[in-house]
Amino acid sequence: MSLTITKLSDHTGAQATGVDLTRPIDDATKARLNAAFTEQSVLVIRDQAMTPQQVLDAVQLFGEVFIQHNTRFALPECPQIHYISNQDQFPDGTRYIPGEGYHTDHSNDARPPKATVLFAVTLPDRGGDTQYVNMHRAYESLSPAMQVRIADLKAIHVYQNSHSTRKLMGLPDAAKERVPNAVLHPIVRTHPETGRKALYINPIRIEGILGLSHAEALPLLDTLLEHAIQPAHQYRHSWRKGDLVLWDNRCLLHKANGDYDMNQLRYLYRVMLKGTVPN
Ligand code: SIN
Repeated sequence: MSLTITKLSDHTGAQATGVDLTRPIDDATKARLNAAFTEQSVLVIRDQAMTPQQVLDAVQLFGEVFIQHNTRFALPECPQIHYISNQDQFPDGTRYIPGEGYHTDHSNDARPPKATVLFAVTLPDRGGDTQYVNMHRAYESLSPAMQVRIADLKAIHVYQNSHSTRKLMGLPDAAKERVPNAVLHPIVRTHPETGRKALYINPIRIEGILGLSHAEALPLLDTLLEHAIQPAHQYRHSWRKGDLVLWDNRCLLHKANGDYDMNQLRYLYRVMLKGTVPN
């Protein structure tokens, strides 16, 4: 087996083949995988066959495991790994599709996770892609006037804001004690490894902008989101069984697509890696 890494688009996404993450990984391979992740923000490692514990062990090639907030999705046999499934329901009986709507993970944490990893266990025959938006490109293509306007703004991030139409599954009581009520993060953040600036917005978790009224803040956030999600900034991932996908929450938005036959199971393992305070 020999590791091959190829780009999946010119700005976002790389795929790695010829590596088995259940086997010992040498330092050179680890360095190449980490470099591809940092450069392309989404790293797709193909053809893996892994138990939850093997996923947990393998992701530590890229960083330390972050404890996810909503423990109701934790796997009993390996609680640091959560599951993503299309078969859960809200208390009112409606289907819950985790991750629908653009977002960046756990931005309501003082130190949001630098990366999220999904491992595809069971997939529908078609559909269920994950779409990514490159927020470096989103920032860099803003007008200079807009870059100046947002340069020093800080957003208030909460678990679930009061104005999003997308609803999250509520936190269990024990998790509520651990999850901050609100944190402030800059709307423009600098990637700690590359020094590139990125827009850092999150439609479901930003309650408002410090010092601005809702009447000013919400249209501004909508304008930034519309600009960010244009197709030129996107990479769309069509899952294959055995894909392990790692993405960089510091410079991407992502969303799941619920565009497939809901009688078919879509089931993935999810784990996150610790990040730093955005600045
Ligand atoms: C997520 O937002 O973490 C889930 C994305 C997906 O299921 O494609």
